[in-house]
Amino acid sequence: MSAFHDWMKTIQAGMEQDMGGYLPAAGAVPAKLHDAMRYALLGGGKRVRPLLVYAAGALFGADAAVLSRAAAAVEMIHAYSLVHDDMPCMDDDALRRGKPTVHVAYDEATALLVGDALQSQAFLVLADAAGAALPPARLAAMLRLLAHASGSAGMCGGQAIDLDSVGLSLTLEQLERMHQLKTGALLRASVVLGALAGKDLDGAELAALDDYARAIGLAFQVVDDVLDATADSATLGKTAGKDAADNKPTYVSILGLEPSRALAEKLRLDAHAALAPFGEKALRLRELADLIVQRKA
Ligand code: IPE
Ligand code: IPE
Ligand code: MG
Ligand code: MG
Ligand code: MG
Repeated sequence: MSAFHDWMKTIQAGMEQDMGGYLPAAGAVPAKLHDAMRYALLGGGKRVRPLLVYAAGALFGADAAVLSRAAAAVEMIHAYSLVHDDMPCMDDDALRRGKPTVHVAYDEATALLVGDALQSQAFLVLADAAGAALPPARLAAMLRLLAHASGSAGMCGGQAIDLDSVGLSLTLEQLERMHQLKTGALLRASVVLGALAGKDLDGAELAALDDYARAIGLAFQVVDDVLDATADSATLGKTAGKDAADNKPTYVSILGLEPSRALAEKLRLDAHAALAPFGEKALRLRELADLIVQRKA
């Protein structure tokens, strides 16, 4: 296996371990809620956002303990977004990460609370990164960044547009905006959080990282749309064909399959180009752009 594969496996295993430690124990009261939080967060998922945090952290030699907390925080927000995304009032999905969704395995009220509590836990875990390796002003900037990316100007805003768009035919600009918010915002936050874990960023560094994040953020959801239309549920670990069944506007429904694939490939090259200023240190970020576009699940 490649060095990239080994790096990825090491981070995924480390995250599993660290995130387990950042959550209350399964039996801790209220046991059903804590058990369901662990069910939602642990034992599944590609961990793309943590991988991006670590890869961006490598640009500036960020402290490992800070990276672990930043990566766990963004993955907790992501996991919460999936729990709520699957609920009957949103996408009404029964399968996630190869397991029954939280509202199916537990109940709807528990799923709602799991999302709420994972969101709070994310900020707690990141706030506790305070220490020698992270000056207070930089930690405040990181907390602010994650809050902004998660809220109505980020992921939640994109989810709201998604739900309001059922049955509509969006323009490409509207579709891109929706994707950049619902998926791109947290992916961008992952990249910038990892970099900020290392140092304060100057304008040029932030602009380059933003160009990279915009490209992979959009590519990620374009590929998600393509896989929804082309892969099977067993491979995806979630219900395939859901977008068409629910009449959601997607890149596939608006552009078609092959143009969507071509767009993802163009965005992969854009992402590589954006990393040019960072040279060899951006190796893992380049490899993650490839993974995001070339993944099969
Ligand atoms: C799925 O995200 C939802 C989107 C934002 C498109 P992922 O494809 O990263 O899901 P996991 O974390 O691997 O389960
Ligand atoms: C969900 O988009 C994005 C978020 C959870 C923020 P989708 O609804 O396309 O995600 P999947 O396909 O259910 O994973
Ligand atoms: Mg959705
Ligand atoms: Mg969904
Ligand atoms: Mg999808």
